[in-house]
Amino acid sequence: MKILVTGAAGFIGSHVVQWLQNAGHETVLLDNLRTGKRAHLPAGAPFYEVDLRDQAGLAELFAVERPQAIVHQAALANVRESMEDPITYAEVNIIGTLHLLELAKSYGCSKFVFASTGGAVYGEGEDGTESELAEGKTAPKSSTPPFTEKSPANPMDNYGANKLSCEHYIKLYSKNYGLPHVILRYGNVYGPRQDIRGEAGVIAIFVGAMIADRPTHITGDGAQVRDFVYVEDVARANVLAIATDVSGVYNLGTGQPTEINSIYRLLAELTGYGRKPAYRPRPAGEVRATWLDSTKAGQDLGWEAEVDLPDGLRRTVEWVRTAGVHD
Ligand SMILES: NC(=O)c1ccc[n+]([C@@H]2O[C@H](COP(=O)([O-])OP(=O)(O)OC[C@H]3O[C@@H](n4cnc5c(N)ncnc54)[C@H](O)[C@@H]3O)[C@@H](O)[C@H]2O)c1
Repeated sequence: MKILVTGAAGFIGSHVVQWLQNAGHETVLLDNLRTGKRAHLPAGAPFYEVDLRDQAGLAELFAVERPQAIVHQAALANVRESMEDPITYAEVNIIGTLHLLELAKSYGCSKFVFASTGGAVYGEGEDGTESELAEGKTAPKSSTPPFTEKSPANPMDNYGANKLSCEHYIKLYSKNYGLPHVILRYGNVYGPRQDIRGEAGVIAIFVGAMIADRPTHITGDGAQVRDFVYVEDVARANVLAIATDVSGVYNLGTGQPTEINSIYRLLAELTGYGRKPAYRPRPAGEVRATWLDSTKAGQDLGWEAEVDLPDGLRRTVEWVRTAGVHD
């Protein structure tokens, strides 16, 4: 199949392209290189340096390439920035997605795969905020982690609201125009090519600092838990999403809650880092605990996470060392 991959120069998108190519698909790549890097673009595919907001540029790409499917990874994905600049975030993440949906409709695309987020879409669960729990309220089981796709969506930031909004539009295009879709709600993705100087991506940030022997810090007490899923597992899920006949929303996680403090200890061991982290105040609104139940992805897509945390961390450290990106 001829597949347009947006965000192809990004951390996850570049792996997705490689997995699609290895599965025998023809790829067309799009990115505006805002956070993506030209060096990450896999060879052997046409690349369009186009912004998601550039409706004419997107239309031209479709007229020339006529992709049969879209794997939409491009987004602005910085939670803090999304609170400071909600308009730009909505323009790129929501309107940009709508441009693609309109083109998918016009060109009769047979699949729309979307990178959503388990972390930001579920938030803390509907009634599971710390303050409410402190008041003695108990949350219904479905709204506490591990979240399933039936858990209430409760974004706590503009980025999460953008992604949930896109999910609604995608389902509407499916229903109204017969566009098959797969929405993948990723856990905390980590692995080679993640930006070691980014705002999120705690594993990449720790590895970069530890290998360069720079000081490190942890926000909050480090007891926050996340579901860390290796990037190649996520890329493989995108290939399965193209192949499936089913439309739906799927969590992609390991189902294992891991504390930030544990990540720190494991990485300090792997890199031989001896310094203690500085603890800084936890940002307001940061989710305390999130991890995902991916049973549905197992049933419908035949997907489960295959790379366990120690192996994934080892591979990430290896990549930062060999790519020399920590200097
Ligand atoms: N990294 C994670 O843990 C995680 C978790 C959940 C969901 N996601 C989602 O996965 C996708 C990929 O994220 P990533 O971690 O690889 O981030 P990334 O920043 O490396 O990739 C995003 C890509 O989109 C491109 N982009 C941004 N704005 C654009 C625009 N206006 N037009 C065209 N291209 C644009 C960037 O240049 C970049 O290459 C995003 O949709 C993100 O929301 C990531």
